[in-house]
Amino acid sequence: MHHFTYRDGALHCEDVPLAAIAAAVGTPVYVYSTATLTRHWTVFTGALKDAGLDASVHFATKANGNMAVLRTLADLGAGADVVSGGELFAAMHAGIPASRIVFSGVGKTRDELAYALDQGVFQINVESEPELRLLDAVAREKGVQAPIAIRVNPDVEAGTHEKITTGKLDNKFGIAWTQAHALYRLAADLPGIAVKAIAMHIGSQIADLAPFAAAFRRMRDLLAILRADGIEIERLDIGGGLGVPYDREGDPTPMPPADYAKVIRQELGDLGCKLLLEPGRLITANAGVLLTKVIYRKEGATRTFVIVDAGMNDLVRPAMYDAFHAIAPVREPAAGAATELVDVVGPICESSDIFAKQRSLPRLEADDLLVLRTAGAYGAAMSNSYNGRPLVPEVLVNGDQYAVVRRRPTWEELVTLESLAPWQG
Ligand code: LLP
Repeated sequence: MHHFTYRDGALHCEDVPLAAIAAAVGTPVYVYSTATLTRHWTVFTGALKDAGLDASVHFATKANGNMAVLRTLADLGAGADVVSGGELFAAMHAGIPASRIVFSGVGKTRDELAYALDQGVFQINVESEPELRLLDAVAREKGVQAPIAIRVNPDVEAGTHEKITTGKLDNKFGIAWTQAHALYRLAADLPGIAVKAIAMHIGSQIADLAPFAAAFRRMRDLLAILRADGIEIERLDIGGGLGVPYDREGDPTPMPPADYAKVIRQELGDLGCKLLLEPGRLITANAGVLLTKVIYRKEGATRTFVIVDAGMNDLVRPAMYDAFHAIAPVREPAAGAATELVDVVGPICESSDIFAKQRSLPRLEADDLLVLRTAGAYGAAMSNSYNGRPLVPEVLVNGDQYAVVRRRPTWEELVTLESLAPWQG
């Protein structure tokens, strides 16, 4: 459910015509809906509450780190899951207190760990023995105890794209399920460490409940082993990963949050532990579109190319994961209008700069506006300036208002961080 709909023949975000944003801000541009963000947050947290779970929700800011998006969620009571010192800084800057922030990530540096302890983050999710020992040392230097979870790799098949699978033993993430008890034993004996939780995260865009249930059972078993060994665990951090519909025919429909909450309750609800969740995509994906304009329509020898002004640097998911994003024209096609098969491509000098191959769309001409849907998660967050293209700007809509919440950098700004070497005069 989202708030990008046709009205009077034109695609709107809430009450704002997307054509008005394109005219004022230019394209390409990401557009986010406050109403959709709010709705997703409310449905997700409501499902947990309805299932009677004692849970806190920590938005995975890697999905969308825009400050205005984070503030929208912070105002709804969101905590954050961050994976770097930069994300921690940005989340706090947006108004999410450190006391609601979980620090995840497989390669946190000494400086990042020290910063997280100085800020007083809620929990640090440790992913290796060397990290545990380093964190202990840093915490002792500061005369504090670091509140930790150990991220356990449950070795389950998440049934998603291999590049976004994280819970198999071949993946770099977490501590092998079989090694976890020993590491908890060590952690419990380290003076700079306060063991609080078990953490897991098995992957992203997961459409099936079975992998979650299997991983939760592993957690449950580990909890029993730890408790038998006298290691007290207060909470279980079950990560994120719930998939969203990208509206491709034939794709499995991701389960609703209520079904997910039911499985959590069945597998983990009776353990006397508080639950932490780290959804990213589910909250923001369908709350954002990438608005772009057709530059050229090119009749190739074997197919028609619709060349748009957004590129793989603005939205890398199709190039990186063969991801599908629905494409819709901003001007509503007449009922029964003819369609044609086209390739929608960007201007980047890479063959992988393709948003859609042989997609059925109404006839498109230069200057027509299009949106790539479901782009509010891992869209702007993964954008870059490849091919000398300034980072794509972001707009937040709320009812009939909109604001530019990240402006487009100028060409000047593209080069301001660079300098000549001293010998170049
Ligand atoms: N927690 C941890 C520790 C994570 O690594 C992730 C995502 C999440 C939570 C949030 O997962 P979500 O609810 O969003 O599935 N760039 C890829 C997705 C990478 C996900 C990485 N980890 C994509 O565009 O599909």
